[in-house]
Amino acid sequence: MASRYCLVFSIAFLIGSLMAVISSASNFNQDFEITWGDGRAKILNNNELLVLFLDRISGSGFQSKYEYLFGKIDMQLKLVPGNSAGTVTAYYLSSKGSAWDEIDFEFLGNLSGDPYTIHTNVYSQGKGDREQQFHLWFDPTTDFHTYSILWNPRSIVFYVDGTPIREFKNLESIGVPFPKDQPMRLHSSLWSADDWATRGGLVKTDWTKAPFIASYRNFNANACIWSSGTSSCTSPSTKGEWLSQEMDLASKQKLKMVQEKFMIYNYCTDTKRFPQGFPKECSRVSEEIRK
Ligand SMILES: *[C@@H]1O[C@H](CO)[C@@H](O)[C@H](O)[C@H]1NC(C)=O
Repeated sequence: MASRYCLVFSIAFLIGSLMAVISSASNFNQDFEITWGDGRAKILNNNELLVLFLDRISGSGFQSKYEYLFGKIDMQLKLVPGNSAGTVTAYYLSSKGSAWDEIDFEFLGNLSGDPYTIHTNVYSQGKGDREQQFHLWFDPTTDFHTYSILWNPRSIVFYVDGTPIREFKNLESIGVPFPKDQPMRLHSSLWSADDWATRGGLVKTDWTKAPFIASYRNFNANACIWSSGTSSCTSPSTKGEWLSQEMDLASKQKLKMVQEKFMIYNYCTDTKRFPQGFPKECSRVSEEIRK
């Protein structure tokens, strides 16, 4: 009996110390720089927490110190609580220049009690127009939740708490440009876009509720860092499994379930917008989902 307890305790201790290692791995001061907001972005709690403020005068934002060329990037976010209508919290990867690539998560605030909208988009070589939007299966303002981007040469997958919500496959074989040649930085910002964000701009930001605050913690990047034209993923030992990962059957089923229940907009079904026919990648996506 005693030895069994002993085992349980040692396992608990091991898990405890492992978690300590994982959480201490996140250091906002080391991985990010504050880019704008005149003091409205703050790194707190021993570099483990980052908060963005938005008030009537300005929002705020930060970006990663490193550029990445492929990665599995996780961040925990707690979104603006209460009446967040008109506010937008963006969290995205983006390269530079006029033919930039971008992988976007945007969280569109709402009146208290009304659901946030998660807006996603993928740009390749300066062209986006690939929006998909979702509601969430939880309130994203009461707790931290993990939002992840898997970006490898085969596909881009958006995850919420480990559940895939969107996949953008590499379909270069049928002539769809895929982001794979330009390194990207991770960016995040909180600002007001009440001309379009909530109910298409009908609901405005209530500045009497300012400051609005979004919080970030537990950043983790399994990524290839790009620096002076070389990737950190050169030797086999630095390449993670994520670099060639594809969705297995179980994740495809989860994705299908989430899209059926929680997707509120899909450019691939918006006939008003594409009366002449959908972008090429749309046919493949729907084939995939039907399987
Ligand atoms: C806000 O709530 C309304 C009503 O439930 C919903 O239709 C809308 O999608 C929500 N999100 C935004 C960003 O407007």
